[in-house]
Amino acid sequence: MAELLAVDELRAGYGKAVVLSGVSLSLAPGEALAVLGRNGMGKTTLINAIVGVTQRFGGRIRLDGRDITALRPDQRARAGIGWVPQERNIFRSLTVEENLTAVARDGPWSLAKIYDLFPRLAERRQNFGGQLSGGEQQMLAVGRGLIVNPRVLLLDEPLEGLAPIVVDELMRALRRVIRDEGMAAILVEQNARKVLSVTDRALILERGSVVHAGDSAALRANREVLEAHVSVAQARPERARQPAVSN
Ligand SMILES: Nc1ncnc2c1ncn2[C@@H]1O[C@H](COP(=O)(O)OP(=O)(O)OP(=O)(O)O)[C@@H](O)[C@H]1O
Ligand SMILES: [Mg+2]
Repeated sequence: MAELLAVDELRAGYGKAVVLSGVSLSLAPGEALAVLGRNGMGKTTLINAIVGVTQRFGGRIRLDGRDITALRPDQRARAGIGWVPQERNIFRSLTVEENLTAVARDGPWSLAKIYDLFPRLAERRQNFGGQLSGGEQQMLAVGRGLIVNPRVLLLDEPLEGLAPIVVDELMRALRRVIRDEGMAAILVEQNARKVLSVTDRALILERGSVVHAGDSAALRANREVLEAHVSVAQARPERARQPAVSN
């Protein structure tokens, strides 16, 4: 399959500190990639370097065969890089609907489709961003990422800090976006088991380098690698006495 996104030997960091030391990855249309790793291993730095908001020291990024390495973040967004940042970045003083329409661009992801995906946002359409619960803010952040109709959506720990019932709601939505709608995505997560059930492939970062890359299903069954590179509590099946089954 043709490559949609190709990251080649990307090096990035802050000031003089090189955090990402030569990371390569590729994504085909409709494919989803999990990026795993413990705190501080460089996951956000990788996402932000693709978005263009982190200092780049080397490497190349291509989208649909076009070199976007030299483009500014807003130009990369227009080219099709969608982003749901770790800190959500919604407008707190705009309503839910204004948050969405402010960034909307033509494409399959319309306001109606976002509301269909997240009925809670439809109910809260006239509430201000700052009045939303953490889960609703995250749904709005995902909605904002989708309504710009990107070619590929980068999601940075979308489940972080959410109650289990909200995690399940978001996972159902993300599964629909990725599996049913075929959105190409990079999903950064600490919860390995959850994210590996919706992605095709996975890579694990350790101190800014890729230490594992492969099939999501195979990694899901590989306790040894998960326990070595992803924190054990997160690698462990939710119900310890049950055999590992896919959900
Ligand atoms: N703005 C910054 N200035 C300097 N160093 C930074 C900055 N942001 C991150 N770092 C450093 O870069 C390294 C990678 O951080 P990064 O945020 O990419 O990790 P992460 O894998 O996303 O972690 P987490 O799971 O906690 O979000 C860390 O050592 C971190 O301290
Ligand atoms: Mg991070």
